[in-house]
Amino acid sequence: MDKRAALVREFRNHFPERGDPGLCRAPGRINLIGEHTDYNGLPVLPMTLDREIRIAFAPRDDGLVRMHSVLPAYRPAEFRNGPDIPPSPTGAWENYGKAAVQCLNRRFQPRQFPGLDMLVDGDIPSAAGLSSSSALVVACALAYLRALGKRLGPDISRLELAARLAEGEHYVGTQGGGMDQAIILLGGEGVACKIDFFPLRVEPVPLPDDHVFVGCHSLVQARKTGEALHRYNAGPVLCRLIRALVERQAQRDFGEEVTIDRLGDLWQGHLCLTDAEVESLFERTFATETLTLEEAARALDLEPSEIRRRWLGDLREPEGGFRLRARARHLLTENRRVEHARDALLARDPESFGALMDESHRSCADDYEISCPELDTLVEVTRRAGARGARLTGAGFGGYTVNLVPRARYEEFARRVEEEYYCLQRSEPPSDNGRLHIFAARAGAAAGYME
Ligand code: GLA
Repeated sequence: MDKRAALVREFRNHFPERGDPGLCRAPGRINLIGEHTDYNGLPVLPMTLDREIRIAFAPRDDGLVRMHSVLPAYRPAEFRNGPDIPPSPTGAWENYGKAAVQCLNRRFQPRQFPGLDMLVDGDIPSAAGLSSSSALVVACALAYLRALGKRLGPDISRLELAARLAEGEHYVGTQGGGMDQAIILLGGEGVACKIDFFPLRVEPVPLPDDHVFVGCHSLVQARKTGEALHRYNAGPVLCRLIRALVERQAQRDFGEEVTIDRLGDLWQGHLCLTDAEVESLFERTFATETLTLEEAARALDLEPSEIRRRWLGDLREPEGGFRLRARARHLLTENRRVEHARDALLARDPESFGALMDESHRSCADDYEISCPELDTLVEVTRRAGARGARLTGAGFGGYTVNLVPRARYEEFARRVEEEYYCLQRSEPPSDNGRLHIFAARAGAAAGYME
């Protein structure tokens, strides 16, 4: 039985009183390069996967939203639709559905809030950096658009939906950027996409024929809504402080009227600085490797409590202060690497692309501090096994690495990684990933309806 028929049958088991459901799907993604840049308004280069979240759905007219999953780990949940939907406790899976519904309510301001029955299925490994959560949000949004009587395209463009859902997903507690929703809605078969933000722009870049991007799981679970939520959010939170400090320095250098909303503004708009100019601005802003809260407060003429109130919240200050200079350096160099990586893909130059991936991993690990020992070991193993470049992918702290491997050497590569990494690990691949700990990525179709 094909996947659609199986999903329809399951839908009827879960919701026997309902008629024929609509069907929609949203793919996962793997990011080739450009990590933690998106929320700073700097580019990324991901591709879709041929693994996806699928939803069978039927609108209701009583405002009740019911979410069931074929996976037993996700317990049935329901909530009442309305102008303000209170979130369930952090980590509850229905929050992704609530995020989508609330976001589209804000956009379409319905006079009556429709309900929806949804049955969710999928084969994207979760907590692994492949964006199963944003795929769920996007798929829920497509289902709910139907309940609102709206059409993707005529009533809301893919670009607008992606930008809105990026913001809308903050509902679940993570302060991510817009990469995932954009590639899920605007990526496609056979291509990676270079994505720029504010405003959202997407440029398809053909994938090579003679090389494959291979995902390898570190076997460390990286739940973005679990313990990793705070570690993930430290990225956006510290970037807000970096932005404020850089803006202050730019005002001293270029005039008090200068404002920057995000670090990406430095390269655009009226400032339009070159890489070298941004580098020297960062050097002036961060004269030392670390900055204590007290020092940051002095630089900004504010009380430390005000810095916490505006930007840092309760983020713990590490002994010796925050390593802001290294974080800023990652953003500067990663921005450059994404541009070069796009050029290398277009020029069919796997060697340069691989070297950029290696540099990116080092920068993510040393400067942005989002790696872990298992990811570091795994990229060493995969390089020895024949990858031309290897790096962590996604939010970090575990999950998958992405590796550029000559197609003809894939089997040999997989065998060696099996021997030199997986056979030596104590933990098993997570049971919900279909033992998909090594896979050659294929760019699947963007999210849409399955009719
Ligand atoms: C998560 C977020 C993205 C992005 C990546 C890191 O996937 O959802 O917006 O910040 O982490 O590059």
